[in-house]
Amino acid sequence: MARSPLVAGNWKMNGLLASAGELQKIMAGAEKLAGVDVMVFPPATLLAGFAAAARGSRVAIGAQDCHALAAGAFTGDISAEMLKDAGAQAVIVGHSERRHYHGETDVMVRDKALAARRAGLMAIVCIGETQAERDAGHARAVLRTQLDGSLPDGTADFAVAYEPVWAIGSGLTPTPRDIADMHGFIRQFLSSRYGEAAQQTRILYGGSVKPSNAAELLTVDNVDGALIGGASLKAEEFLAIAQVYG
Ligand code: PGA
Repeated sequence: MARSPLVAGNWKMNGLLASAGELQKIMAGAEKLAGVDVMVFPPATLLAGFAAAARGSRVAIGAQDCHALAAGAFTGDISAEMLKDAGAQAVIVGHSERRHYHGETDVMVRDKALAARRAGLMAIVCIGETQAERDAGHARAVLRTQLDGSLPDGTADFAVAYEPVWAIGSGLTPTPRDIADMHGFIRQFLSSRYGEAAQQTRILYGGSVKPSNAAELLTVDNVDGALIGGASLKAEEFLAIAQVYG
């Protein structure tokens, strides 16, 4: 069974109520893209409204982070159960910005992925090496450690996003050959840990994906879609990227 591609837009800390128009454009465009799953990850303030607006459309709505526990005295945090209740179908965990600015460790990321499973959300687990790690020739070792520590045991019911930290928001990207290498490595890791079922696990590429490089980067072996930051804020650009699979 082939993996259906997934194009996911991570809006990060961008978007106001007025951004609903952008979602409408994405929903309209996604109607013509039957071959690709489309998801938008708005900030938490827009989640419930977007989920209600997108109900019945080809666009699923997700969240950018969750707490590992279902409820409790954790001021400012949001649980996976709350996200599900607000209409989310998925959640990004372990984004490099969460790892960097919020000190999230692999263990914390795995606990969040488990929370997503508990709540019935699909987790997109992010991994990726820094420039220094790559320069030192440690990229694979870093990915192995992150995969080992961040992925939950049991079923491979999540997606993995390979996002080299140096490619995020920088305009820089790995070559298609580099991406093929890293995604092949991740696929191998998944197969050895989860067996045959890992053939169904989607591995997304993320980091400076734009309409101009999407065809080249997203048709590489073992690339099953994209996690897109900056270019997901404009419906036309986001849809132009998704069109690669359309
Ligand atoms: P970018 O971000 O597309 O703006 O590089 C990707 C991401 O952080 O998911």
